[in-house]
Amino acid sequence: MRITQMIIACLLISTSAIATDKDNRQILALSEAQRGHVLEEMRALLSGTQSILAALSTDDMASVSKHARPLGLGMAHKAEDHLKGMLPKEFMQLGMSLHRDFDQMAADAESKKDPKLTLRQLSDAMTKCIACHDAYQIRATPASAQTQEHQHRHHHH
Ligand code: HEC
Repeated sequence: MRITQMIIACLLISTSAIATDKDNRQILALSEAQRGHVLEEMRALLSGTQSILAALSTDDMASVSKHARPLGLGMAHKAEDHLKGMLPKEFMQLGMSLHRDFDQMAADAESKKDPKLTLRQLSDAMTKCIACHDAYQIRATPASAQTQEHQHRHHHH
């Protein structure tokens, strides 16, 4: 019985290792600086989300709004300059839609002051974090390599 359990455990560990080893997410090739910008925005999204949850735990709806607002479309417009044209349309749309969710959250926290509503909105919005992380990964490409790749493409089209 114990041996069977051990074998099952080993099988589970090895299959999950195989499953996670292969990263099938679409690669976004960005420069080191662009990658830095995206990841910085990501960390702001994570810490903003934590701040919203902390505010919700004390029904502090003014603080919810204060922390949701900077994650809204204003954040997207700041990033746009650095990343114009570098990211796929689907990626941008998912990102924009998430920023709109945070603007809506901020507005409703001010007008409706309903923590349950905010929780539902936050939970729904976070399905977009999950969807995007399932679909994409970022690779930093040296600027020279990117140029070469462009020239390469140019030759063949
Ligand atoms: C439109 C796409 C997209 C959305 C939406 C998105 N992310 Fe990301 N995020 C990424 C990508 C791409 C990476 C890099 C993943 C990789 O290269 O493995 C990333 C990385 C991160 C990281 C790691 C940052 C680091 O410094 O390495 C955190 C944290 C993160 N995201 C949090 C979030 C949170 C929280 C949300 C939702 C509130 C979110 N993201 C929504 C695309 C997205």
